Amino acid sequence: MKFLVLNGPNINMLGIREPDIYGKRTYEDLLAYVRQGCEKLGAEVSFFQSNHEGDLVTAIQQAYFDHVDGIIINPAAYTHTSVALLDAVKAVGIPTVEVHISDVSQREDFRQVSYIRAACVKTIAGHGFDGYVMAAEYLAALLGGVIGSARS
Ligand code: DQA
Repeated sequence: MKFLVLNGPNINMLGIREPDIYGKRTYEDLLAYVRQGCEKLGAEVSFFQSNHEGDLVTAIQQAYFDHVDGIIINPAAYTHTSVALLDAVKAVGIPTVEVHISDVSQREDFRQVSYIRAACVKTIAGHGFDGYVMAAEYLAALLGGVIGSARS
């Protein structure tokens, strides 16, 4: 199983940006945590973060040619604006889970819209870093019948 974890704008600023909302742990901490969770599931994982919408579109397209089995994406602010990311996920047809660190459903009105959600097999929000590992667990169960927790 091969997973790709994509993060959108400002996720590289974890630990610095709004720690009351996103916590004090850094982007590097996130990668280490998700890598560990994927290892427990026996999945190979790669990561990509960009502050640019088109780069994220290209990464989703590349996942198709790299035979990625599942995508975990936190599109960050592009969640609420990007038809291009929605179309990219539809184009590749790879099972994709939408993840948000914060509980977007309890935040501003403009965060209530998610374009990408229509192309995703699941949305996980408000579980912090665990949400990414929950997404990996979900994809592992969906793709390979592996059921279990990989969180720590
Ligand atoms: C976010 C929520 C988005 O509304 C916001 O723009 C982000 C992060 C989250 O992980 O909670 O940058 O996707």
